Amino acid sequence: MAIHEAITRRDFMNGVGMGTAALLAGVPQTQAAPGMQGASDAFEPDLALELIARPRNASLRPGRTTSVWSYQSRMLKGDPTSVQALPDSYLGPILRLRRGQKVRIDFINRLDQPSTVHWHGLHVPDTMDGHPRFAIGPGERYRYEFEVRNRAGTYWYHPHPHGHTGEQVYFGLAGLLLVSDGEEQTLPLPRGQYDVPIVIQDRSFDDDNQFRYLGDTGPTARGNASGAPSAPGNAMGGRGMMGGMMSRGAMMSGGMGGMMARMMGFLGDTILVNGRPDASIEVATHPYRLRILNGSNSRIYKLAWQDGRPLTVIGTDGGLLERPVHKDYVMLAPAERVELWADFSKDDLGTQLTLMSLAFEGSMGGMMGMMDGGPMAAMMDNSSLAAGAQFPIFKVNVARKTNARLELPERLSAVSWPRLQDAVNRAKPRAFRITMAQMQWGFDGRGFEMMAVAPNEVVKLGTTEVWEFANDSGMMTMAHPIHVHDPQFQVLERRHGAASGGVRDGYVDQGWKDTVLVMPGDRVKLLMRFADYPGLYLYHCHMLEHEDLGLMRNYRIET
Ligand code: C2O
Ligand code: CU
Repeated sequence: MAIHEAITRRDFMNGVGMGTAALLAGVPQTQAAPGMQGASDAFEPDLALELIARPRNASLRPGRTTSVWSYQSRMLKGDPTSVQALPDSYLGPILRLRRGQKVRIDFINRLDQPSTVHWHGLHVPDTMDGHPRFAIGPGERYRYEFEVRNRAGTYWYHPHPHGHTGEQVYFGLAGLLLVSDGEEQTLPLPRGQYDVPIVIQDRSFDDDNQFRYLGDTGPTARGNASGAPSAPGNAMGGRGMMGGMMSRGAMMSGGMGGMMARMMGFLGDTILVNGRPDASIEVATHPYRLRILNGSNSRIYKLAWQDGRPLTVIGTDGGLLERPVHKDYVMLAPAERVELWADFSKDDLGTQLTLMSLAFEGSMGGMMGMMDGGPMAAMMDNSSLAAGAQFPIFKVNVARKTNARLELPERLSAVSWPRLQDAVNRAKPRAFRITMAQMQWGFDGRGFEMMAVAPNEVVKLGTTEVWEFANDSGMMTMAHPIHVHDPQFQVLERRHGAASGGVRDGYVDQGWKDTVLVMPGDRVKLLMRFADYPGLYLYHCHMLEHEDLGLMRNYRIET
């Protein structure tokens, strides 16, 4: 399947088919009450659309179609080219927004379980952020309204209900959200067909072409409404992870392997790009902007070109770098984005190139080491494509000649960083330690609680702070990509433990980030500013199984 076809074929959804109209007829419009929070009469959207999460069938492999959940959209107001459907994918439409734009998105939940939408990386009011406390049930709708305040960049959206985020993303609910701004528009960057979004995900299929996840989950699950992987409000239902999972049938449906997959993070054995297996892209002899999102639940990639040419990085989570950076490889953990300048103008026609994930070690940290070769190691190896294995991601075929030229700009963007000397806690950074106790992930021993905020989880609006995440506690450590909602941050410092040798040249810390990979033994310091919006936001591990099991906490921004 050509990536190119799927994403350059402009298939805008500015109308609604008969099928969808019929589907929407049954939605209770009056249940909008929770969604009206934060919405005000003064808000005049430039762009308005409906975003519907619903089950459907996708033709992903030869043979039977795959049951997925998928976002579908309907334009209500504004430029129809702001929404670009991916016709042959379960992925949601690409939303193309501009900085300063006012956006209204009416989310309609046609799943059989609660959901929210989180605009990953965006700076929005807390009621618009998709926090699980605002989850709406089947058939309900929630109105998201916000002004786009972020820099131009590659962001994304996905569900965020408590305990089901991994399941909902895995079965297809995710989409890209691309922001542009004036500065970016004046730069000579590859555009149109030369600007290619690439969403990398790993999945496992059963013999019947259906996605295999943990236990009885997804659109075809029998006991879906009650089959929660963890009870909302308390990750383990007060019984500890073992008790909680065993009592929910995990032992029967997923066995010990399923339980370990939940605890260590689910790894699929098939790599999909933009929802397609065996992806390839046909390119011209021209530079490309490759916007890469790791949309996987738990897999970390070590990206590199197979012929050894360096990667030219121009952007990270929060948009363009100040200047390009050249890397032999780039580590990309779940939820992270990296933008590459990939120049094929010197390649011969017929050249074949593969973007690889190279082998690396250490992401399973202490536990794998401790249990090496033992029976536990076999159980934890819940995928035939192990963490840190080497494999191809997609192929590039240089198929067309063009005389058009484009030079890599030396300066990409002017960035105004927060200043360390302005950080109110510069002398004593706010410290969070990732812990594992009684088989429960947590921050400083605490798992997720829907509304709770601990004393060390309160910050003041309008201040700059240093946060430190330490991943060096206990007998069992593994890599965790830590995501902080609301601000973009700067990575100030990394202190490396023993495990991170084969990965540490792959961090792109020169740009704005909202997710940072913290390897076993490592400590990472971040600098961030809390501006504009007070409220309750989240920080968590973006390995979605970890998040669902409670490696997530609230923090509050107070006025
Ligand atoms: Cu991409 Cu809290 O998530
Ligand atoms: Cu984690």
